[in-house]
Amino acid sequence: MDYHLQTQAVHAGRDDLRELGVHAPPLDLSTTHPVRSLASGRDCIDRLAEGAADAESAIYSRLHNQTVHRYEVAFASMEDADGGIAFASGMAAITGVLQALRVRDMEEGRVRNHVIAVRPIYGCTDHLLSCGLLGFEVDWVEPDQIAATVTEQTALVVIETPANPTLHLVDIADVVRQAGDVPVMVDNTFATPVLQAPLALGATFSVHSGTKYLGGHGDVLSGLVATDATWAARIRQVRILTGANLHPMAAYLLHRSLPTLPLRVIKAQENAIELVDKMAGHPAITEVYFPGFGDSDPTDIVGRQMKGPGSVIAFEMKEGFDAAAKVMLATELFLPAVSLGATDSLIEHPAGLTHRIVSEDGLGSGGITEGLLRIAVGIEYTDDLWTDLKKALDQV
Ligand SMILES: Cc1ncc(COP(=O)(O)O)c(C=O)c1O
Repeated sequence: MDYHLQTQAVHAGRDDLRELGVHAPPLDLSTTHPVRSLASGRDCIDRLAEGAADAESAIYSRLHNQTVHRYEVAFASMEDADGGIAFASGMAAITGVLQALRVRDMEEGRVRNHVIAVRPIYGCTDHLLSCGLLGFEVDWVEPDQIAATVTEQTALVVIETPANPTLHLVDIADVVRQAGDVPVMVDNTFATPVLQAPLALGATFSVHSGTKYLGGHGDVLSGLVATDATWAARIRQVRILTGANLHPMAAYLLHRSLPTLPLRVIKAQENAIELVDKMAGHPAITEVYFPGFGDSDPTDIVGRQMKGPGSVIAFEMKEGFDAAAKVMLATELFLPAVSLGATDSLIEHPAGLTHRIVSEDGLGSGGITEGLLRIAVGIEYTDDLWTDLKKALDQV
């Protein structure tokens, strides 16, 4: 579709609805599907097993589901990608990309076991890479050390920007340049396709926890990968074999949330921009981290790479852990809970919760201290949010 993102959000993935004579996308809950003939059934299975996006019969819902497919088409259109592949969670999507690297290894008859990654990054992604479960060895480096770290064995470069939880920014185009032939995976969860387009900057994979802004209402776990046609086929092959599929009901909810994604992202961002200045002036806070705020963005990534800073803010409490623990439970509107990207505002303690699984080293190099809090700003009325947060901050 050649429309503005806001129009795509409303219309993408709905091309067949007029023909079907319906307004809302149908929810197909069938786990199995009739075949027209044995020959056509065999043909469909072959196509889907090779990673095709669609076939005449879905055969079995681990191979294909039309409700999920419609959302994948819509998501891919938002990311300007050939293919969108939906998973049961963000972690399943990230795992799907790592396993697709093995599919390529098998095709090419060689093994690459090395991954380069930049911290900070979401706690479970950090742990998945560090613990060696999938057989990769990871080098954690600063963004400017990537070129020097690439070897013949490097399968993937992993970055998250803005990064969870410190909102640290990474220059995607520069990472792609340093990576050379090595594919780059960008976790685009915090920015969403509304604010950032990693594939247009040369990244191979843009991955999301769809549980966040894409779902947008805190009621659907999901993960998405946007990529080119070749990698999309490999990732679908992985999904068919490993079965980490997105449930059709979840896809239905994600598709229902898509038209309001730009509105929600922009309104939450407006709220966050207003809060940041007020927070920076509060005596209980020593540091506020927000893309483009203060001296956080010397190369103007916000504006060049991102259309705006988004709506997650991290901040350092002057009195450290005790103050952070107190503030987290002293708000009324901000719910003390992990996650982000819902319509309501949340507050959490990264070192104790989202990043608890990260090693001491990882916490240290990622700048994740005991006094750090993270808020995910929602779409409530701005003044109410500040009144609530200020009341909590005033208590310490
Ligand atoms: C940036 C980021 N990536 C990936 C994930 C994992 O997503 P999920 O919880 O949907 O598996 C999260 C979860 O918080 C996240 O914040």
